[in-house]
Amino acid sequence: MMKRKIVVAITGASGAIYAKLLLQKLHELATQVADVGIIMSTNAKQVWETELDNADYQDLPFKFYDKHDFTAPFASGSARYDTMVVIPCSMGTLGRIASGVSDDLVTRAADVILKERRKLILVARDTPLNLIHIRNMATVTEAGGIICPAVPSFYSKPQTIEEVALTVVNRVIDLIGLEHDSYRWNEL
Ligand SMILES: Cc1cc2nc3c(=O)[nH]c(=O)nc-3n(C[C@H](O)[C@H](O)[C@H](O)COP(=O)(O)O)c2cc1C
Repeated sequence: MMKRKIVVAITGASGAIYAKLLLQKLHELATQVADVGIIMSTNAKQVWETELDNADYQDLPFKFYDKHDFTAPFASGSARYDTMVVIPCSMGTLGRIASGVSDDLVTRAADVILKERRKLILVARDTPLNLIHIRNMATVTEAGGIICPAVPSFYSKPQTIEEVALTVVNRVIDLIGLEHDSYRWNEL
């Protein structure tokens, strides 16, 4: 199997724990992953520090790219990154992607993934949703993207916040197409 080249963008919606756990799992699945590039919005850093009480995103074992660094390989389709995950994805970033605004590396990388017909997964988070959010989700879906809302499930009886968050992150790993151990309903 070809090793995967993945972009992970972290934006300023609630749920920094989802990004933390996804990056941990991608690190564990290193045999299936050739490269992970990380982009973080300014608000994502603030939300991470507020929610997780640390700035550990600085220590993640992957290369960080500045939000305005258009020299990043995945700013161009020629670099052949196959998947991009925006986790969590704010309504602002969703709207900018849906309207084709490519004025920073997050929105440019998403634009590239869509134009190259590769896999874009938006772990969108806000509640409640207004009609603009819903229409933007429809637009991204019509363009080939996948809206994977940050909506946990409880049938696996998660006991901790991390286990709750993993119910979302494990679905993202499934969507990326990586082999991993995860709770599966009624699996024998
Ligand atoms: C603590 C905190 C929590 C937030 N939660 C959300 C959220 O769940 N969803 C959302 O769309 N925006 C949320 N926001 C607002 C976004 O951070 C803001 O709209 C920002 O401009 C989004 O830009 P970005 O996507 O470039 O990070 C939150 C902001 C803060 C400070």
